[in-house]
This record gives sequence, C-alpha cells and structure tokens, in this order.
Amino acid sequence: MQKDLRGVPEFDIMRQGKDYKYYEMGEWKVSSSGKTIPISNPYNGELLGNVQACTKDEVDHIIATAKENVECWETTPIKERSDVLKRAAKLIYKWSEHLGNILMQENGKKLSSAISEIERTALIFNATAESRDQLLGETLVGDVLEADSREKISMTYRVPLGVILCIGPFNYPFNLTGSKIAPALLAGNSVVMKPPTEGSITASHFGVILETAGLPPGVFNFVTGRGSEIGDYLSSHPDINMISFTGSSSTGQRIAEKTGMKPLLLELGGKDAAIVLDDADLEMTVRAVVSGAFSYNGQRCTAVKRVLPMPSIANELVERVTEEAQKLTIGNPAENKDIGPIISSKQCDYIQELIDDALEKGAKLKCGNKREKNIIWPTVLDYVTEDMRIAWEEQFGPVIPFIRIQSADEAIRISNQSQYGLQGMIFTNDIDLAFNIAQELEVGTIQINGKSSRGPDHFPFLGTKSSGMGTQGINYAIKNMSRPKVVVMNLTERGKLVHECVAKEDTP
Ligand code: NAP
Ligand code: G3P
Repeated sequence: MQKDLRGVPEFDIMRQGKDYKYYEMGEWKVSSSGKTIPISNPYNGELLGNVQACTKDEVDHIIATAKENVECWETTPIKERSDVLKRAAKLIYKWSEHLGNILMQENGKKLSSAISEIERTALIFNATAESRDQLLGETLVGDVLEADSREKISMTYRVPLGVILCIGPFNYPFNLTGSKIAPALLAGNSVVMKPPTEGSITASHFGVILETAGLPPGVFNFVTGRGSEIGDYLSSHPDINMISFTGSSSTGQRIAEKTGMKPLLLELGGKDAAIVLDDADLEMTVRAVVSGAFSYNGQRCTAVKRVLPMPSIANELVERVTEEAQKLTIGNPAENKDIGPIISSKQCDYIQELIDDALEKGAKLKCGNKREKNIIWPTVLDYVTEDMRIAWEEQFGPVIPFIRIQSADEAIRISNQSQYGLQGMIFTNDIDLAFNIAQELEVGTIQINGKSSRGPDHFPFLGTKSSGMGTQGINYAIKNMSRPKVVVMNLTERGKLVHECVAKEDTP
C-alpha cells in the first residue's frame, strides 16, 4: 500500500478556508452559533484552523441522526462492517504522512511520532475488522446445570448497544478516538465523536476516511466544541447509549456522576511508578525510564511518572538518567526533536508549580527546570519525598521525580497509596520476586523489565481506582460495545415427538 505524499483533495470538503466544519449525516456543516474555536500550533503559535463551536441544538440533532441510523448499520452484515473498517485502515495508512503532519502542528507531537500514531490507528482498524468473531455467540443446553431443564436450549449472539459517544484526549486525538470508533462500528453501533478541542482538526478527518470507505451517512457523526461547554450535555443525553472516554480522571469522574446507569469505558490518568531493585539491569532501566518519562514530553497517561530506586543503585541510576536526559534534543517537532512544546501555557504553569513545590521542600535538581515559551526542559528531581505534590500529582510533562526507598514493601506502599492505578513497573532479574511484587500492586498492568505502555493494542488496557473503569484493547472494546442477545428455546420434551413422527398411511 502506497502513502499519498501529495495534498489530499478529498479533504477540501472539510473546511472553508481555515474554518473546519462538523459532520452529520454525511454532510459538512457550519454551526449556527456563528462561533469558532482557533486551534494554534503549540510550538510557534501559528493558527492551524478554526473548529465549530457547536450548539446544544446541534448536539441534539446529531444524536437524533445517529439514533435514526443505528438500524441500517446493525442490519448490515458483520462481514460488510468489517470490510468498511479494512478499507478505512488502508485510507488511514495511505494518508498517514498528511495526517501526521497536521497532528504534529495541532498538538506538538514530533513528526515521526505523529505519523506513527496515525499508522497505529490503521493497524487498530484492520485488527478490529479481523476480530469480528468476537461477535459470535454460543449455544447452551439447560441440563448441564439443572437436570429438569433438558428442554431448554439458549442461543446467544451479540448485538450493538445503540449510539456510542466517543470522546478522546489531546495527546492521542486520532488514535484514541479511532480506538473507540472502530470497535463501536464493528459491533453495529452508530457513533457520535467529540474530539479534544486541541486535536479536533486531525480527528475530523475520520469523516472523509469513513465515508470514502463506504460507511453509510449518519452512522458516524461528530461535533466540535469545548468539552466544558457541551461535554455535560453530550454525556448526559438520554439517547446516548454508551460512552467510551479517554482523558483526565477529573473529567472521567464528572462523566460518571452525570450518566447514571449508562455503560461507560473510562481510560483516565496515571501515576505509574517504576520500582528499581538492587539487581536491576541498569542500562535497560535507564533506557526505559528516559524513554518512558520524556516521550511526547511526558504527555502520556502511561508515562513513567515516578521512580522508586533501592539505595544500592539509586545514585548511579539518577546520574545515568540525568546524563541521558541532558542528551535529549529540544525544539521544533517538525525536525523530530525529542522534546517539544507542552500543549498549553496553562499546563506549563502547572508543571512548573510541581517543580517549584518540590524544590522548595528540599528536592535536589539534577537537570532541567528551564522553560522557554511552551517548552520545558527535561527535568530530573532527586530525593523527592512524600510531602511533595509531584510524588502524587500527575505531572503530564517532562519531569521525573526519584523517591528513594529502603524496601520492596515501602515501594508497594508508595505505589498503592496513589489515587491512580494505571500501570506499574518492576526492574529486577529476580522474576519470582517480580511476580510477587506485581501481585501486591493495585494497578491494571505491571510491566516487568519494561516501561509502561498501552500497546500492543490487542493487549487488555485498563486502570483501577482513579485511572479508569472497564477494559480497552481490541477484543475487550468490541465486547464492551455490544451485549448478548439471548433466545431460549423451550421444547415440549426433547426426543418425545420424534417417535410420533411417522409417515401417514396413504389414504386410498
Ligand atoms: P481532559 O481535559 O479530561 O479532556 C479529555 C476529553 O474530554 C476532551 O475531548 C475534552 O474536550 C473532553 N471534555 C472536557 N470536559 C468534558 C465534560 N465535562 N464532559 C465530557 N467531555 C469533556 O483530558 P486531556 O487534557 O485531553 O488529556 C490528558 C489527560 O488524559 C491526562 O490525565 C491523561 O493521563 C489522560 N489520558 C489517559 C489515557 C488512558 O488511556 N488512560 C490516555 C490519554 C490521556 P476539550 O478538549 O474540548 O476540553
Ligand atoms: O496517554 C495515551 C496512552 O494511551 C499512552 O499510549 O501507547 O504511548 O503507552 P502509549
């Protein structure tokens, strides 16, 4: 499959000049609000485009459209649904350079990572299409459990939930909306997408991609607008049957409060701790910590958010992580610099608050604590203690705190004391010990001798406590976005009628 390196005329319909439109029933629309939200490149402040500030009436209309179009899609053969996703995957890959370039300008992700995010989404679409057997049902006979239920036979197959609201975060605005859209569509649901405002332009391209792939109009729709203005209205809307959300724990908890009995899939914040034991392979650990803490400027839920080293290796580990952090290149994402801009000045201010608090309370600065506009230099803080905010708050920036420990028990306590429970890491050569520590950690996933990560995308991905609800990951998402339909056949008496079924004597 070839990549398309030209401009993409198919995308022209999405906008008028720099004003991007929202998408409903296969049409690109301008909001009646007359308002738009400017989206600027976080690196140089250049205006990338404006997205519609949709109204609540438009939200009502788009949800009604999605609801009206569930049936046409539910009754589309699963094989055909799967084929649409496969065609979409090919288009996503074909346009990945173009989309990656837009993504980079929209959220400051370095170009190579931005293109990887797009390509990864193509992989998810294709793998989801291949996982249609997740929708197979099963047949059960009653007398397996109850001797007098021999006449009961249950037949189960899976059906869609209806209209699924897919809400994604700014840091993976294409991949983390796509990872919801694909399973939702395979399962036969219709979709209303609410992309992150910073990320809306990139995610808007799903309209062209899915229409070109043959998705009927009205099955996929999206609104744009600030979550703070239309988010509550969207998530509490009575015609939304399920919400798949990725974002901060505070927003996720807000959604949970607003939605009552509605099925939810929430992938939220993290404070993943790397426990480093005395016998850890330091070279591997340094690579994992530096990559895990500073990729995409630390703006990943699965970033390494704190390191808990045992005393015998702590000094060398801190020195080597500092040495590597200082080698990271800094600047323009278009030039694939390792460290680029944080998504907003406000977020930069928050990160700086955490650094200042730690230093005021006695942490030792090893490198960084430097800011130019939206760029914060990779910052290593040693001797971080539990009274410091950065020990517990999600920094979502290029800052790594070292909290020195004296025992595995202490590491487990500090890990579990967090409100978050996304992932944890254990670096050691004692695999038995690693497994036993893993057993104690209150997190969704434990990485042994590796950095936290959501991928590969068919792996289950989940958070406990404030890190989420439900399980993402291709097969898990398909199951979460569908439900069993159970039909029970109550026979009069199995086998009895057979003997009565005889040829009727021919009447002369
Ligand atoms: P966010 O501020 O919570 O926003 C996430 C999404 O929710 C955006 O589309 C946002 O729209 C929307 N939103 C805001 N208020 C809403 C409301 N009241 N109702 C419904 N939707 C609303 O999070 P973010 O800053 O984009 O992403 C960073 C956070 O997400 C971090 O905490 C990170 O750990 C977490 N995250 C978790 C995962 C995971 O898989 N666990 C992955 C990525 C990120 P607007 O953009 O218009 O505000
Ligand atoms: O924060 C986004 C989260 O999904 C991280 O994904 O693959 O970079 O671990 P990944």
